Amino acid sequence: MVSVKLLSLATLVGAAVAQNTTAPLRYMPFGDSITEITCWRAKLWEKLQGTDWATTNFVGSGKNENACRDTKYDRDNEGHSGFLAINIANSKQLVGWLQRNPADVITMHLGTNDIVQQNKPVDQIIAAFSTLVQVMRDSNPKMKIVVAQIIPMGMGNYNGKVQALNAAITPWAAGKNTTASPIWVVDQYTGYSGSADNRDGIHPNAGGDDKMVSVWYPALVSAFTSARADQVAAAAAAAAAERREMPFIA
Ligand SMILES: *[C@@H]1O[C@H](CO)[C@@H](O)[C@H](O)[C@H]1NC(C)=O
Ligand SMILES: *[C@@H]1O[C@H](CO)[C@@H](O)[C@H](O)[C@H]1NC(C)=O
Repeated sequence: MVSVKLLSLATLVGAAVAQNTTAPLRYMPFGDSITEITCWRAKLWEKLQGTDWATTNFVGSGKNENACRDTKYDRDNEGHSGFLAINIANSKQLVGWLQRNPADVITMHLGTNDIVQQNKPVDQIIAAFSTLVQVMRDSNPKMKIVVAQIIPMGMGNYNGKVQALNAAITPWAAGKNTTASPIWVVDQYTGYSGSADNRDGIHPNAGGDDKMVSVWYPALVSAFTSARADQVAAAAAAAAAERREMPFIA
């Protein structure tokens, strides 16, 4: 009788821990100026309010934006204006960024500067993406990763190359996909106008920010859901281990 009571108590405690879903998820918006000096992060944060993901902690070493006039949102991000994916990968910068600001979920919008500044070959950009995904998983083996097929440009003659990169992203991501650390590819190109949705041919205006949020959002919800499931499973496993370590109770 006594042991049955204690078992139910342990089960209840375990269930309470397993249901503790209050630990905020850490989300790193990672990329170049299209992540740094824009307002889609503000709009995304606003969209998350009132959802299960309202407590999401945006993380990163920077707080820059594009005069978004939103005093409430979490400005932390890892967007670096002018940076090439290839250079970030070669100089191992993401290693330190993730050490300082660990994350559960990350979005990556990169490649624009590789194409515009240095006309880098698509296969070299994709190789850099592989390095960056490895860095993410070394930092957190369960990192949930959302990779963008990048927005078009409204200047110069770059969109053929942008489309070639975007086409290469799909099979590359499928080949890198794992159950523990899924990669979701989102298409930020289709339906986005390089001229009408960018303020300067490169960076989204208010309409472009809205389009980017609507494309990130469903994939981010999948990523947050997956990260939260990991937390619940870890809490349940910890509770089960605790029960095994308390035979003296019975
Ligand atoms: C629930 O999560 C919060 C936030 O991480 C933590 O402070 C608290 O101790 C947890 N409670 C239980 C019962 O695990
Ligand atoms: C990776 O796997 C997840 C399911 O875990 C799936 O939703 C997603 O579309 C896959 N990504 C790619 C690029 O195939």
